[in-house]
Amino acid sequence: MNVLVIGSGGREHALAWKISQSPRCSGLFIAPGNAGTLLVGTNVSIDTQNHKEVINFCKEKDIGLVVIGPDDFLASGIVDSLHSAGILAFGPTKSAAKLEWSKAFSKDFMNRHGIPTALSATFSTFNEALAYSKTQALPMVIKADGLALGKGVVIAQTHEEAEKTLSSFMVDEVFGESGKTVVFEEFLEGPEISIHAFCDGTVAKLFPVARDHKRAGDGNTGANTGGMGAIAPVLVSAEFLKEVEEKIVAPVMKGMAVEGAPFVGILYPGLMVTKAGIRVIEFNARFGDPEAQSYMRLLDSDLLDIMLDCVEGKLAGREIHWNTGYACTVIIASGGYPGKYTSGFPIKGLSAIADSSAVVFYAGTEKEGEEVVTAGGRVLGVSALGVTPEEAKTNAYTTVKSLQFDGMQYRSDIGANWGI
Ligand code: AMP
Ligand code: GLY
Repeated sequence: MNVLVIGSGGREHALAWKISQSPRCSGLFIAPGNAGTLLVGTNVSIDTQNHKEVINFCKEKDIGLVVIGPDDFLASGIVDSLHSAGILAFGPTKSAAKLEWSKAFSKDFMNRHGIPTALSATFSTFNEALAYSKTQALPMVIKADGLALGKGVVIAQTHEEAEKTLSSFMVDEVFGESGKTVVFEEFLEGPEISIHAFCDGTVAKLFPVARDHKRAGDGNTGANTGGMGAIAPVLVSAEFLKEVEEKIVAPVMKGMAVEGAPFVGILYPGLMVTKAGIRVIEFNARFGDPEAQSYMRLLDSDLLDIMLDCVEGKLAGREIHWNTGYACTVIIASGGYPGKYTSGFPIKGLSAIADSSAVVFYAGTEKEGEEVVTAGGRVLGVSALGVTPEEAKTNAYTTVKSLQFDGMQYRSDIGANWGI
């Protein structure tokens, strides 16, 4: 079967790497891909925003499954377009992906179905939002309703900062339509974890628990990023997993089906473990990046088999096997990321990976002649396995230290804490 992966990040390299190992995969295309996806398939430069162009490409290359990486493609309804054209696609429809692309919808959905989340209030007019903000305690969490490149959450420490945020979201419309509606949330505290589940519309099968590291600096300091590293499995009890399944994942599957938008693809709830219990911070409708990089190292089963079962509603009969070890992914980013950074620096050390347990997944990279050069904020993800958490961490950093480009930055504490 020929497979098309849409996206250009480290997540897509990891997915393509894993799919390429499937005996069922005879041809693999990535649109647009990056310098790393070139190592496992063929990059194609179609306009992925243009559904017609994607459909035409799929027909021309006889694509049997399209795998969609990023959230904005799902929000654009690409899965619906592909299905209408008779092409199988792994990912939720536009109405099911609404769990991610509208925080207002997702909060209402959780409240309708008794799913534990932060208390919230939603507003679509600036004056009402501002008046409400003045009655709220600090810090105050303000979220743009729609997708905002991971920048739509502000934790305001003062009422002035809250007003400035509301003004930039709702009046200046810095995120366009996405910020015209805002969601206020109570401020929660506790360790954060990433839950992922394969979903076929009815059945959901949980992955081991993962943890992303969103802040740029060691000890969770500095600016929010797309994610600077991911570990899995985070060590949780069987009771904890059961609670996640029963209180969060099962009600989502049931609720979405009842509301006419059965969820197919990856359901990825971001959770906070507070003193008062588990709370959903957000729903994502896709693999996390960099969680996917760690997960693809741990997944022993054939990813293509599982994805096809999800799309065909046959997940119940599929056994999914995970490596019993640990995976640690450390992101190497351009100096200055998540702020301004410069690209085009040659990357050294890629041809001889220092540790045999590590795989380097490429993100913002480009091929320039024979050289791989930097071409984005997050550049590489070094993903290593270990029999113990400590070994996975050590193996990852051995390889990180063998790679080099001008200005590179990475956190040195990914994998320092595997608990909750
Ligand atoms: P997001 O962009 O939605 O992933 O949110 C970014 C980060 O904001 C999360 O990883 C949390 O650390 C933080 N956050 C979101 N909602 C809350 C909340 N209600 N209380 C405290 N922190 C939050
Ligand atoms: N790991 C964060 C994200 O993919 O949204």
